[in-house]
Amino acid sequence: MSEKIQDEELPLPSYLRVYKNTFLLKYTVTYMPEYEKLKCRDDDVYVMSYPKCGTTWMQAIVWLVMNDADVAFQGGSKELDELFLLLEWPFNNKNMAEFGKLKKLPECPDWEARPSPRLFKTHMNFQLLPTQIVKRTKTPKIVYVSRNPKDTAVSFYHFTKGFDLSPMGMHNDFANSTFPEFYKYYMQGKCNYGEYWQHQVDFWKHRHWENILFVKYEDMKKDLKGEVRRVTNFLGKNLSEEKIDKIVEATTFSSMKRNNTVNNTAMKASRTQDATPFMRKGAPR
Ligand code: A3P
Repeated sequence: MSEKIQDEELPLPSYLRVYKNTFLLKYTVTYMPEYEKLKCRDDDVYVMSYPKCGTTWMQAIVWLVMNDADVAFQGGSKELDELFLLLEWPFNNKNMAEFGKLKKLPECPDWEARPSPRLFKTHMNFQLLPTQIVKRTKTPKIVYVSRNPKDTAVSFYHFTKGFDLSPMGMHNDFANSTFPEFYKYYMQGKCNYGEYWQHQVDFWKHRHWENILFVKYEDMKKDLKGEVRRVTNFLGKNLSEEKIDKIVEATTFSSMKRNNTVNNTAMKASRTQDATPFMRKGAPR
């Protein structure tokens, strides 16, 4: 089956462009030269992943570890995605409609202005990361989250299907597609951020770098407390047992689903009315 899919030449979805052999959202491509030149700091912390592998889950954990288990998330005054910026999308998701009207992208995101330790998220594959990270001239801490390919594909399908890209002047080619249709594109890496396998394998190869922690979604499901401890140690924090327990409690699926700060409600502006909720199932089938 997969050989057949690989043979069939699929057209590129209209909202994607190619950048150094990887398919990315066309606006992201415009940003890539800026992205690759990012001046990293050794005390930056990144959550990295292929989309739908548990990024938001890990962001919530990392934020709590870095902020002394403040489970109110600064009183919920900001969405997690504002506290923890998606590097290749340096906008507030709430302003997507205005963003779509821009003739030219703002050249200077507020990366530099952010105080240390900066928390960033990115879905970029290893080759496309900021040059200072790839060349190891800076060694920020990187927590990479990996998830099995089947659940990732299903989650990615629901997520992609529910996007309304029209405020940004784009068309969602998958708005009415079935899972088997989407899956063919996924297998060929013709989806936002390119190929699943290349993404996982390249980070896996670098898992021994001291500044990289490789975490599996399935391990978080099995032993959340154990993985929270691993992340805490990796980030060089010393949290009491009580605080670790608070973090675990705040980052279970049901707690996160209830908490608007961490379940990507800001994305609503770019979701269709009948889109599946961001916190969809959260469990390996
Ligand atoms: P499903 O669509 O399978 O439910 P990302 O943040 O990378 O976009 O990943 C989203 C996926 O992670 C979704 O998977 C979402 O439900 C799941 N997820 C988010 N928070 C979770 C949690 N606390 N526990 C388990 N899964 C979680």
